[in-house]
Amino acid sequence: MRAIDIIARKRDGEALTREEINWFIDAYTRGSLPDYQASALLMAIFLRGMTREETVNLTVAMAQSGDVLDLSDIIPYSVDKHSSGGVGDKTTLVVLPLVASCGVPVAKMSGRGLGFSGGTIDKLESISGYRVNLTNEEFRQLVRENGIVLTGQSADLAPADGKLYALRDVTATVPCLPLIASSIMSKKIAAGANGIVLDVKVGCGAFMTNLDDARALAQIMVEIGVDAGRDMIAVLSDMNQPLGCAVGNALEMAEAIECLHGDGPEDFREHCLQVAGYMLRLAGQGERWMDAGEVRAYLEQQLDNREGLKVLRKMVVGQGGDARQVDDPSLLPQARIVHAFTAARSGFVQQVAADLIGEASFDLGAGREKKGDPVDLAVGLKVHKKVGDRIEAGQTLVTVYANDEKKVPGCLSRLEEAIEVGDQIVDPLPLFYDTLYG
Ligand code: URA
Repeated sequence: MRAIDIIARKRDGEALTREEINWFIDAYTRGSLPDYQASALLMAIFLRGMTREETVNLTVAMAQSGDVLDLSDIIPYSVDKHSSGGVGDKTTLVVLPLVASCGVPVAKMSGRGLGFSGGTIDKLESISGYRVNLTNEEFRQLVRENGIVLTGQSADLAPADGKLYALRDVTATVPCLPLIASSIMSKKIAAGANGIVLDVKVGCGAFMTNLDDARALAQIMVEIGVDAGRDMIAVLSDMNQPLGCAVGNALEMAEAIECLHGDGPEDFREHCLQVAGYMLRLAGQGERWMDAGEVRAYLEQQLDNREGLKVLRKMVVGQGGDARQVDDPSLLPQARIVHAFTAARSGFVQQVAADLIGEASFDLGAGREKKGDPVDLAVGLKVHKKVGDRIEAGQTLVTVYANDEKKVPGCLSRLEEAIEVGDQIVDPLPLFYDTLYG
């Protein structure tokens, strides 16, 4: 086979065969195919699209480009979740221990934050000593012993995606549905999941800013999963305003712990209960967990009885972290400066723009501009109001946690832009827009 023929066929709008896709991915991963030919193919895919069959074949080829985790000797049915990313999304930190507390083992690899979108691994690293680089043997041993493991993604998992994603980033080919869907799903499949709950965020603080695009992405990913033999559920959830209150690494860790105490913001608790419920329904495969009402009642009980919290503590100890910070979150990294951002007028909250809130937190040092940049774990925001809330002049809308006085004014002017207060009564934003089943 020749790369030039494959590029030409895609350029002319033809569908590539499985053999052609496998050949291309294999050659590119091994380094025998240059970036300029891979870039040309990516652009041809961007312009011409891919059929469902091509997208599935691309996903499977990328999943098989490195290690494929097989946990079937430890976990008979592995259930995973994936969020397309947003502001204040610390769901994994609650849902994983909560699901494990129900007797369903979970083994998950998560990512770091980029831009104003946070990453689970950075949030976990606000716990001193918590190890996110585990050997394969440690990973397997922890699942066996504790029924839970949560680490960073191994470099050997879907390496073709790592290389192609870096190339897409510099060739203007990131926003392409088959490429996004195959990138996400290849990592989930390589991580050995039998059932996957996808949380596709919609809104100004998400990758997909409108419902139609988000639905199309969710639909393609569900189809890929089904064709690759996985059980799939996708939820479309709101990301026009932050999820919960806390935005910033240690602040989000603390809010997750609060939720595992049965407390914390109502929207975040509800979001976690829904996602955990779908994970249990997949894990139950139609038996023990089938009744949605029963699942819900059981999860609420586990949260309120702090069963999930006990599992989080066990996970932290297992991965070398300081469990005293779980027992007492005031021991997590703390910012030196605490500043109240108050309402200039009374009225109803019209908007709490998630993207601008994310940028305000980024400005304080909570996020990274490019891979490898350091983050300040202590800084961030607590956003106390939601769209639709009635507020009075002078009330604190946001608490700012900073370590550098010079960064505060920029953050405050972003907050001025992000939060709009007016006279009009507005409805609260929905948490979820839709659910897709595969
Ligand atoms: N996240 C991924 O992992 N891949 C994409 O292409 C986009 C978002």
